[in-house]
Amino acid sequence: MRVVVAGEYAVTDKGMFFSEEAIPILDHFSGNHEVFVVRPQDHAEVGEELPTAHYQTRKPVTISGGSVDVAYFGVVGHKIHSQGLINGYVNTLKNVWALIERLQTTLKRGVPTLNPIAVMEANTSKRYLLDLQRRGDIRVIPTEEVDSIDRLVELSRSGELFLAKPLISERAKGATILTPDAEGELEGLLEEYRRPEQMNGTLYNRVVSAQGIIVQPFIGDINTHGERKVGVVDGKITLARVTRLANGVEGPRIVAYGTQDAVESVEYELGPEERRLVERAYHALNDLYTREERLPAHFVRVDLIGPRNEPMISEIEAINPHIGVGERWFSDEKIKHHLRQLEKGLSRYH
Ligand SMILES: Nc1ncnc2c1ncn2[C@@H]1O[C@H](COP(=O)(O)OP(=O)(O)O)[C@@H](O)[C@H]1O
Ligand SMILES: [Mg+2]
Repeated sequence: MRVVVAGEYAVTDKGMFFSEEAIPILDHFSGNHEVFVVRPQDHAEVGEELPTAHYQTRKPVTISGGSVDVAYFGVVGHKIHSQGLINGYVNTLKNVWALIERLQTTLKRGVPTLNPIAVMEANTSKRYLLDLQRRGDIRVIPTEEVDSIDRLVELSRSGELFLAKPLISERAKGATILTPDAEGELEGLLEEYRRPEQMNGTLYNRVVSAQGIIVQPFIGDINTHGERKVGVVDGKITLARVTRLANGVEGPRIVAYGTQDAVESVEYELGPEERRLVERAYHALNDLYTREERLPAHFVRVDLIGPRNEPMISEIEAINPHIGVGERWFSDEKIKHHLRQLEKGLSRYH
């Protein structure tokens, strides 16, 4: 099959470079398929034809949109460490959604995307936490949407610690612990992440109209239990690790786990409560957002915090779930199994 992967690559006089986390996936897919990478930044050039990097030959090629069988979005926004490219999905949000909009008209009707567009859209804003919480059968960190300064001030003075986070953000950007000392920052926070006025009807504008602020209790024991990051493919858990501050590091109180040197990740054996919660969360996400019945989200990463026996969902990543297949946290055998399951999604709908 012809697989188009949305992701980053860099061309230099030394050759073509891809994201380290994407390489095992691209390598695996190219064992059985023709793989072409298209960059979000090139969205304006996507018409009947798409500018791509042909992964097998490392050559730029233009292919016709009508010849594509499946589009894969799981590595969008991943860094290219070798080239110092540290972008991230949220930084490139405008380009990613412009690309998706173009691809919708370019690809043959019915070309599946992994994950489905509706799920990726819903997952871009942490609003899905509010939807999961409303269902009542999934333990989520208690989450409240806040759009007034009065409520933020009230929470700051409550005597308990709360954490405010933008709905559309990553790597803990904008996360603010609400203390009386931080009151001066709150107006600015609300302003910066306010839900925008409805603008014209591009897909990107619709996606960012889900911006805003949520507040959660600050979970102080996060570093005791660590943050567990669990890869789920087709409803089954494939990989799990736990991230914590490295031994002896006096950390900041908010840690964007996975982005800092002071953080270490090790493989993790999930307990039964954790497994149940992760599997339920996967199905709940699909129940909530899958419009096309036949296309559930194929792979997601579910993050848990809290005690092993009473875990809570802190985040679900259904767009670019960095689980660490490009790192050394898992055995080759486990990664191979994960990649095989991932690949099954490509042909599932054909
Ligand atoms: N309620 C919370 N209490 C304590 N720390 C939190 C809480 N929510 C998030 N964090 C910390 O902030 C980091 C980033 O938050 P997260 O919800 O994962 O958003 P993102 O990864 O998209 O920035 C987490 O890795 C965790 O360390
Ligand atoms: Mg996170």
